[in-house]
Amino acid sequence: MVIGISVVNFLVPVWAAQGVTAEWGGRTAPSAGALYPLGVYVVVGNVEGLDAGLYSYEPEKHRLARLEERELRVELAEAALDQEWVKEGAIDIVISAVYGRTTQKYGEKGVRYARMETGHAAQNVCLQATALDLGLVTVGAFYDSRVSRMLQLPGNEGPLYITPVGWVR
Ligand SMILES: Cc1cc2nc3c(=O)[nH]c(=O)nc-3n(C[C@H](O)[C@H](O)[C@H](O)COP(=O)(O)O)c2cc1C
Repeated sequence: MVIGISVVNFLVPVWAAQGVTAEWGGRTAPSAGALYPLGVYVVVGNVEGLDAGLYSYEPEKHRLARLEERELRVELAEAALDQEWVKEGAIDIVISAVYGRTTQKYGEKGVRYARMETGHAAQNVCLQATALDLGLVTVGAFYDSRVSRMLQLPGNEGPLYITPVGWVR
C-alpha cells in the first residue's frame, strides 16, 4: 500500500492523535476529566529525515523520544497476525492507554472512557492523514502481550490501536 513519507507530513497525524492545543494542556482529542490516559508510540520505518526505530510522542514538547533503534515494522506486523500493511506503512502509530489514570477518578467506567478516547484519537489520525493525501489502515487485530513487550510498555499500560500510515502507491 505505501512507500516513504517526509518528516514534515508524518508528524502531523501523530500530533493529531494527542497534540496539545490549549495553554492549559488541552489536547486534540477530548478526555474524561482532562486526565489524558493515552500514550502514542510511533514505529518509524520509511520516513525521509528520520532514523528508523521506535519513538514515543511527547505531547507537551511536541517531540519524539527514541526508545529503540531497531526497525520494528516486521515484528509489529507479526504481532498483528501478519497483516502486510503493518510492515509496509512508512510508520505505524500505536495508541495505548494507562487505564489507572482515568479509573482512579471514575472507577471501572474509566476503562470505557479510555477506550472511547482512543477512538477519538485514532479518528483524528485518519482525518489528518486523509487530508494530507496519505493512506492508512485501522488495525485492532493484534496480540496485546506481544505489542506491549515490543513497545516496552509498563504493566499498567496496554495497546489499543495500530494505524499504519504512508503514501499510497
Ligand atoms: C475496531 C476496529 C478494528 C479494525 N481492525 C482491523 C484490522 O486488524 N485489520 C484491518 O485490515 N482492518 C481493520 N479495521 C478496518 C475495517 O476492516 C474497515 O474499517 C472496514 O472494512 C470498512 O472499510 P473502510 O473503513 O475502508 O470504509 C478495523 C476497524 C475497526 C473500527
